[in-house]
Amino acid sequence: MRSFFQSIFGKATPKQVQILPQDVTIVLEPGQTLLEAALANGIAYPHDCTVGTCASCKTRLKQGRVREATPFGYTLSKAELDAGYILACQAFPRDELTVVEIDPPSADLPPVEQFAATIVATEPLTHDILKVTIQTDRPVHYLAGRYANVRVPGWPRFRCYSFANAPQRKGRNVLEFYIRKVPAGEFTEALFRGELDGQPLEMEAPQGTFHLHGGDAPMLCIAGGSGLAPLVSILEHARANRIKRDCILLFGARTEGDLYQLEAIGNIAANWQGEFRFIPVLSHEPEHSDWTGARGLVTEHIPADFCEGAEGYLCGPPPMIDAAIARLLDNRLPLEKIFYDKFTDGRNS
Ligand code: FES
Repeated sequence: MRSFFQSIFGKATPKQVQILPQDVTIVLEPGQTLLEAALANGIAYPHDCTVGTCASCKTRLKQGRVREATPFGYTLSKAELDAGYILACQAFPRDELTVVEIDPPSADLPPVEQFAATIVATEPLTHDILKVTIQTDRPVHYLAGRYANVRVPGWPRFRCYSFANAPQRKGRNVLEFYIRKVPAGEFTEALFRGELDGQPLEMEAPQGTFHLHGGDAPMLCIAGGSGLAPLVSILEHARANRIKRDCILLFGARTEGDLYQLEAIGNIAANWQGEFRFIPVLSHEPEHSDWTGARGLVTEHIPADFCEGAEGYLCGPPPMIDAAIARLLDNRLPLEKIFYDKFTDGRNS
């Protein structure tokens, strides 16, 4: 049937995709997503989940149209959609020539490797966040802000957790993570019961594209819950390398008992090159407690006068990220200067 139609209408013109900034043009096989075609052509295209939930493959569509396998809007914010971003793993190019652009630093991130790992220590940070120390069979090279996929051998899927300690030049094989207990989450329930202590794990790392970008722009960091981990890694890395940038760290939690790692943040603040302001914000602190700090949603406390010329680094639950992006855009911090990692329960349970 196919050859009959081809004999009448001629052979279908193959679809091509030009990928910037590498300026590589690839030809798509029928039924391939943009990401599948790029990987099949040996391009180190940023990706992780491949199912449209992590945003690692976020790409700007410069020319052409694409069909969405699942709506991009499940993961990308309205501002990102309006700016022309798509998810490469969910995009089927429709035109003869499609032109896309990936974030330049993403193209140079270190490749993912497999490691054998073991949990060597755990320490409760709050009633539902555990500091987990994992040792790997050899050093892991990563940029602060990125994450690892972790799995118990034989279990069906990996969970994603951000590195909480700063990287080292020669790599690190003792790695810290802040892991939140997800109700009814098989992995985190077992972890909190201590059943995974000493158990062999498989790790694939480093993952994701979230990391500290170069330059001297002031940094506006916003964390919610266990989203503090990648920001502590980034800030500790910047402190250790004497990077001089003004910084505000907003940390949203429910109550005073949900704040953690205050000593580590205090140490970063005391040794920071430039101005450093830490603003913890509590959303559910009892009204008559002796808390005198900020209350409400963390995004309500973004200082408007700090935004212009700054870079935004956001980590936490999707509603917090979406609200923060909207607030930053209102305060004239452009989308290109907003970097984020959304923590969803599905990724971490
Ligand atoms: S790889 Fe496309 S959203 Fe995760």
